[in-house]
Amino acid sequence: MCGIIAYIGSRYCKDIIISGLKRLEYRGYDSAGIAVISSDGVHDKNSNGCRIIAAKQAGKIKDLEESIRDMDFDSTIGIGHTRWATHGAPTQINAHPHLDCSGKIAVVHNGIIENYAELKDELIRKGHKFVSETDTEVLPHLLEEYYEGDMLLAMQKLLKRIKGSGAIVVLNSDSPDEIIAARIASPLIIGIGKDGNFLASDMPAVLEHTRNFIIVNDFETIRLKKDGVEIFGGDGRLIQRESFKVNWSITSAEKSGYEDFMLKEIFEQPFGIKETMRGRLTGSELQFDELNMSEDQIRKLSKIQIIACGTSSHAALLGKQLIERWARIPVEVEVSSEYRYKNPIVEENCLFIAITQSGETIDTLAAIREAKSKGAKIVAITNVVGSTVARESDSVIYTHAGPEIGVCATKTFTAQIIVMYLLALYFGKVTGKIDAQRYLKIVEELEFIPNKIQLILNEAAKIKKIADHLYKYRTFLFLGRIFGLPVALEGALKLKEISYIHAEGYAGGEMKHGPIALTDTNTTVVGIIPKDFVYDKMLSNIEEVKARHATIFVIASEGDTEIHKYSNYAFYVPSSIEELYGILTIIPLQLFSYYIAKNLGRNVDQPRNLAKSVTVE
Ligand code: AGP
Repeated sequence: MCGIIAYIGSRYCKDIIISGLKRLEYRGYDSAGIAVISSDGVHDKNSNGCRIIAAKQAGKIKDLEESIRDMDFDSTIGIGHTRWATHGAPTQINAHPHLDCSGKIAVVHNGIIENYAELKDELIRKGHKFVSETDTEVLPHLLEEYYEGDMLLAMQKLLKRIKGSGAIVVLNSDSPDEIIAARIASPLIIGIGKDGNFLASDMPAVLEHTRNFIIVNDFETIRLKKDGVEIFGGDGRLIQRESFKVNWSITSAEKSGYEDFMLKEIFEQPFGIKETMRGRLTGSELQFDELNMSEDQIRKLSKIQIIACGTSSHAALLGKQLIERWARIPVEVEVSSEYRYKNPIVEENCLFIAITQSGETIDTLAAIREAKSKGAKIVAITNVVGSTVARESDSVIYTHAGPEIGVCATKTFTAQIIVMYLLALYFGKVTGKIDAQRYLKIVEELEFIPNKIQLILNEAAKIKKIADHLYKYRTFLFLGRIFGLPVALEGALKLKEISYIHAEGYAGGEMKHGPIALTDTNTTVVGIIPKDFVYDKMLSNIEEVKARHATIFVIASEGDTEIHKYSNYAFYVPSSIEELYGILTIIPLQLFSYYIAKNLGRNVDQPRNLAKSVTVE
């Protein structure tokens, strides 16, 4: 949550910062601000002629941009911030940057200072004046206390005082040729450019300027100059670290003619899936070198534990079905936020998998740390190279969906699912639990999946038409069984997060145990009913809600000539083998949520109260 960008170089920084903030807006979008160091040329014994100029605004980045359009921000060094409020309402005064009493130090921060109340009391006793309700504001005042001519040393002292998390970036008008930064548990990257250097919460913020990056680790402090960077470890020692190059293109971080990032990302799924399969599935051969596990170790597995949050946890639930079916290894799935607090049992021969598209979700990170401290070996599945989860895990399986900007996870979900299919098959083959003919059939079908998804996308207009009829309903129940259940949960999550309509996902058979009481003429039931081994069971479940006057929309498979008798609306996905309907049936539901939300005039890329990566508890 919250996005940070900083630039120092030979170009004017205002436009660089504003455009970087727009690319980071998915991380938080309730208020924003910018600070630069400007020279007024008036030197005297107390001043080097430099001062901080800052502006902040409640609302979107475009509101900030508008408010500073005519202001003089001519400077080649500056910082910016887009906020997702944790402490203090999303007002102008609470927006970042925050300044010290002298107005010489400006700070942007992504994270939470847990002991801010105690620090604030202490600083007030020393005479510091606070203006906001934020936890962040203690940072510039602490730095003011500790500053004795080198802001990096002040930052290192500050890190010893604060509890919590943060990526912290500081401008100091006494040193107009450097930006100081630090990281504790919140993402921060350094971008190495041709005509200047960058700090940012995420790579897409600066992709238009550079593809060379260095990741900042926890407790490191940074001195960023226009022609170089110094990284210091928690012990204060200088660290040498090479930059690496990413192959993400700038168009992958732009809308490229689509109305919204979400729609673009839904349409990018065939590509993301192909990329994620590339090199892992060749002909009928599966390769998972990145697992770092011998076949013997896989055969000895007594259990697999998967942790994740939100959409990633739905990929985990589908993974459970697949691994248990094909490899016959028991799988437990838990949401990370619960796992970390329950004193978990970590058994020998249990593989621990963490799924997180961002690789920065704090609950997942904390769960990994908890499991690791108990001796677990961690395999991460993530979309972001160099993310914290990737770095803290023993091995990493990357999805190659490309950067996902829309808050709503779409293409990263199907890329995660593809990894689950491949991994489950691989485990099945290694353990010898999957029938050889079945294995070949699945592998063959997997190759067709990108094309079949493309066929579904080509029919987006049909789904739009259905959404145009159903968008006024206020309750949606999504029903599925076995492979359809994670799809039902994910379909409901998509709809509620971007349309703000009440939607729930249930196992079809659970309806009679309570949720059916919700069903009346104001309810739409969305049934995931492809031709699989629970088809008849799902039909009975749909009959039950139909009898209670719900409107029925079904996702069925091509060639099903019966389903229209049970439904008011139907969308047909290309036929496939039963396990693979899991990935095919989610695509129309992503589009369905998108069109419902658009009908209601919602901002699908930045839904209210949400942020792309949840880096606070
Ligand atoms: C998905 O649409 C959500 N915005 C959210 O549930 C998300 O999946 C969750 O926060 C987990 O994120 P992660 O995959 O980056 O860990």
